[in-house]
Amino acid sequence: MLELVNLKKAFGSHVVLDDISLTVPTGEIVSILGPSGCGKTTLLNVILGLTELTSGKIIYDGVDLSSVPMKKRGFNIVFQDFALFPNLNAYDNIVYGLRNNKNASTPAEVNDLIDLLNLREHLSKRIDELSGGQKQRVAIARTLVMKPKVLLLDEPLSALDGLIKESIKERIKTIARQFNLTTIIVTHDPEEALSLSDRVLILNNGKVAQYAEPKTIIHAPESSFIKDFILKQLMIKRDNIFRLFDSTMPAVPAMSYMQTAAASA
Ligand SMILES: Nc1ncnc2c1ncn2[C@@H]1O[C@H](COP(=O)(O)OP(=O)(O)OP(=O)(O)O)[C@@H](O)[C@H]1O
Ligand SMILES: [Mg+2]
Repeated sequence: MLELVNLKKAFGSHVVLDDISLTVPTGEIVSILGPSGCGKTTLLNVILGLTELTSGKIIYDGVDLSSVPMKKRGFNIVFQDFALFPNLNAYDNIVYGLRNNKNASTPAEVNDLIDLLNLREHLSKRIDELSGGQKQRVAIARTLVMKPKVLLLDEPLSALDGLIKESIKERIKTIARQFNLTTIIVTHDPEEALSLSDRVLILNNGKVAQYAEPKTIIHAPESSFIKDFILKQLMIKRDNIFRLFDSTMPAVPAMSYMQTAAASA
């Protein structure tokens, strides 16, 4: 179990994470949703140990990791910008971490992962020869071969298109379940968060706006911010799709939803 206790992070006088406390049971998938700049990446970085906390505790299976260095925490991350090694090809990027930890995955497991992520034909390519979605899959493979205790993913699906996105979502779920891997995923997409995860953490201005199961977020959003930020986005998406099937449905500009929401708040 991963416990975050009164986490606070400030850059100078700018408080970016403000008293975040929550528990993630082992093996669960948690999505973090929230507007740009609300502190999602910072939260992943403090859990990883890349960014030092201002105050608070990070506890894993009862052990306080707050001052344990990143490499000894046993957590791993897929960064928002992938952070691949440009001088190595795709395959060497994938197996890079195994140089110091040879037993993390067997060669057969590495092979399975390469097939799972559809990377076989790209293995000898340089990083600058890969598309955004291919880079993203290399970054996911590179992290998964290390079988981390906690897997942190910063917008791992943003550069992937429809069907590949759906299949990688399923793979992340399968891998998380298979290895009982605690997984924390940052996303901008409410539909992705609600369909992928066991629990959703909604951040607003560095504070927890709601932390609950997807069905609770849908049926009992705790504030008008959540209604506007999550539910209105989902409604707009749904209506856009329905309109494709039913051309008589009037087009409702996004602003109208926001005005309706503001009026009812
Ligand atoms: N190293 C840093 N020094 C100073 N301020 C920082 C630093 N890193 C992040 N911030 C600030 O902290 C806030 C939160 O940034 P963060 O990257 O966590 O946002 P985010 O929710 O991941 O946004 P996005 O959805 O755009 O990726 C921003 O205002 C950002 O400018
Ligand atoms: Mg971010």
